[in-house]
Amino acid sequence: MEVKLTTITPEQLKTPPATMSGVVFGVVFTDHMFCMEWEDGKGWHNAEIKPYAPLMLDPSSMVLHYAQMSFEGLKAYRSDSGEHVLFRPRENFKRMNRTSQRMCLPELDVEEVLVALKQLLRLDSGWVPDEAGTSLYIRPAILATEEAIGLKVSSKYLFFIILSPVGPYYPQGFNPVKIMVSEKYVRGVPGGVGFAKTGGNYAASNLAEKEAKELGYTQVLWLDGVERRYIEEVGAMNIFFVINDEIVTPQLTGSILPGITRMSVLELGKLWGLEVKEIRITIDEVLNGLKEGTVTEVFGAGTAAVITPVGILSYKGEDYLIGSGETGPVATRFYEHLTGIQYGKEKDPFGWVEAI
Ligand code: PLP
Ligand code: COI
Repeated sequence: MEVKLTTITPEQLKTPPATMSGVVFGVVFTDHMFCMEWEDGKGWHNAEIKPYAPLMLDPSSMVLHYAQMSFEGLKAYRSDSGEHVLFRPRENFKRMNRTSQRMCLPELDVEEVLVALKQLLRLDSGWVPDEAGTSLYIRPAILATEEAIGLKVSSKYLFFIILSPVGPYYPQGFNPVKIMVSEKYVRGVPGGVGFAKTGGNYAASNLAEKEAKELGYTQVLWLDGVERRYIEEVGAMNIFFVINDEIVTPQLTGSILPGITRMSVLELGKLWGLEVKEIRITIDEVLNGLKEGTVTEVFGAGTAAVITPVGILSYKGEDYLIGSGETGPVATRFYEHLTGIQYGKEKDPFGWVEAI
């Protein structure tokens, strides 16, 4: 793929934040972006790295009406040796292609897009923050851009990648969050788009998140959309339970996002000789386990959320304390190792980390 390069003028240059402390997740963007277009009969074309700027979209662009889109989220890290690295980036673009299949979007060439991403990252390398726990969040997205409001599959698309220096996703950092089980709303159903990273899933979950926040909770825990018993995932992360020393996470049934952090936790757990299980697990089993003391930890896993311990689960108006409400040893071990691999402090036994 040939990438046209238009760099920003000295007057347009922005300055990265001097410190990431106090910078809200995902509101600061770097100097450049990558864009590429797709059209029926032409395929992907017009690949370009250019100054970060608003998009020109016709108000009839199909994505604005019918949400035909997919997106991804991954991070670039500054390792202890000063090198910039990516964590399992191919998995993100492979997942993007799975989302794209479901949303009738054109697929990407994973290797080509990775080359373009690295070119963009090298250009904006001064934006990778170096304070502990910070990174450069990478947001690729594909939008349906055909100018038509009849309902059909678009014949034109825009793919872009933007970059945002970030610290912790939750203001709590690596401290326990309070999660409310959603009884009223559901996120995904079999045959739906729950497994896809597409905007509508997030738009549809906003009301539940808003109501949970008003009650003092950080996010919601979704139950399955049919029986409303089986645990699925949290708003922006997959969920794990430590039950009788085993690591348990809901199995992928098509309605939850197959998280790359989730997959990495499962692989690390197996490497350490822990018992890891992907099963269907009900909210009642978890709450009973909390009462009996067999469920000792709950934590979430995601790119933005990293490993986030859960201190309180609320269900039907009742708060259930997890352990002592503090971060547990298993969540700590996964957090330390995962971030250790990402920042080059720990050995990378699987070759997950890749130089930019
Ligand atoms: N579940 C949802 C709904 C998400 O938005 C995310 C974040 O991307 C995850 C899970 C975790 O996925 P990953 O680990 O690939 O970031
Ligand atoms: C991520 O973890 O990358 C996500 O996409 C979550 C997003 C809602 C910020």
